[in-house]
Amino acid sequence: MAHYLGLDIGTSAVKAVIIDEAQTVVAEAEAALRVSRPHPGWSEQDPQAWWQAVETVLDEFRAKLPRVMPRIAAIGLSGQMHGAVLLGADMQPLRPAMLWNDSRTGAEADKLAQDNPGLPALVGVLPMPGLTAPKIPWLAAHEPDVLAKLRRIILPKDYIRLQMTGECVTDMSDAAGTWWLDQARRDWCDAALAATGLTRAQMPCLVEGNAEAGHLDRELALRWGLRPGIPVAGGGGDAAAGAVGIGAINPGDAFLSLGTSGQLFVTTPDYRPAPADMVHAFCHALPGRWFQMGAMLSAASCLAWAAEIFNVSAQVLAEEAAAAFRGPSSLLFLPYLTGERTPHNDPHAKGVLFGMNPATTRADITQAIMEGVAFSIADARDALAKSGTRVERAGVIGGGTRSQLWLQIISDVLGIELVRYRASARGPAFGAARLAMLAATGADPALVCTPPEIDGTIVPRSEMTQAYAARIERYRRLYQALKPEFAA
Ligand code: XUL
Repeated sequence: MAHYLGLDIGTSAVKAVIIDEAQTVVAEAEAALRVSRPHPGWSEQDPQAWWQAVETVLDEFRAKLPRVMPRIAAIGLSGQMHGAVLLGADMQPLRPAMLWNDSRTGAEADKLAQDNPGLPALVGVLPMPGLTAPKIPWLAAHEPDVLAKLRRIILPKDYIRLQMTGECVTDMSDAAGTWWLDQARRDWCDAALAATGLTRAQMPCLVEGNAEAGHLDRELALRWGLRPGIPVAGGGGDAAAGAVGIGAINPGDAFLSLGTSGQLFVTTPDYRPAPADMVHAFCHALPGRWFQMGAMLSAASCLAWAAEIFNVSAQVLAEEAAAAFRGPSSLLFLPYLTGERTPHNDPHAKGVLFGMNPATTRADITQAIMEGVAFSIADARDALAKSGTRVERAGVIGGGTRSQLWLQIISDVLGIELVRYRASARGPAFGAARLAMLAATGADPALVCTPPEIDGTIVPRSEMTQAYAARIERYRRLYQALKPEFAA
């Protein structure tokens, strides 16, 4: 029986799954990653650390599943979006990758927006800090020697493809997050490339997520007990790959990803740009499909941050908060630890915990964090609504879904039903494995990308929705009041 390998190059970990033909997960593995923040606002990772994490999970699979490995018929890749992997003539990184939550390029993003008012409608989004394109003028100003040597710029998951196959290729959904893709035409946008001084020659080739995009190197195949030359699928940015995994591929299908970052994602029938609402309108990982997304830079990462400070696990914090929950908190938490994209486009925004008194407990703080993230999701929902896209029910995926309390708070704040799927923490790696299956078999995406089995439905409690409605107004006012201070 054929098997398929999905790899997600995340920010906090590389995650891997192997599925069989029936899409049963036969193995999972994970290798942790760290982010380096050498200066305020910077967020970087060494591409070599991604590759080492991939080696770790595949070495583990090789040792544990020697009989499964030769049956793997294709590999699919997913990854954190927007990161700039800058390659020189030798196809080696010229510097650490600058990531999606790197906020150093505020001035460059503003200038790109001012100079190119017509481009956001073509490339799907305002040139916000964190996207790939503003990183180029930043390099021009601060590291011109790096820019002078730039031969190719690729995305994080595509660095793994380069190691595996020698090919410089990306898929539409990951290309979509660069600010250089003409989303309607599914091709590089020459005007957007020119706006940052780049040309097509520096870009990877484009394929659809379910197409073949390279073949596995012989030596690597032998090392891992895989068949030499198996195809590596185009794959997808983690948002679109998560959607493929959860079966959100038809117009109106919506889900919330509660991972390191947060995404409220809706598949759209066509390309629906709404840059003024800070909505991202991008190509999906399957041909002829698009999506809209509200992107929140900090979601489950807020709880992970608190867990680190309190020196306990996020799970302990979540259980403690669940046991202490008595209704909406009087504390307010602004979850903008690395600035925010939707709805503020504000790289200066910061995390804020407001309203403490001597009786404030750790559980209160955890609850406030969960509520703050829920409020930011409500803001994204409203941004989508302004653009004409309503979300009335949503699936949920990502590590944050392990907390029932958090999901209930989000459902209450949004006033919508949330659907949790079995193994919902798996996310994009599973979608990547599905894209591998599609690339190897040529199967109809509609037959393969079905919603997983439902694990439970979270229904909003109307009295809580009402109580939260007043809180969210205070949350919004707090951000507006502090906004000038953040920038100061
Ligand atoms: C989406 C986004 C993040 C990254 C990291 O726009 O920036 O979700 O893809 O996972």
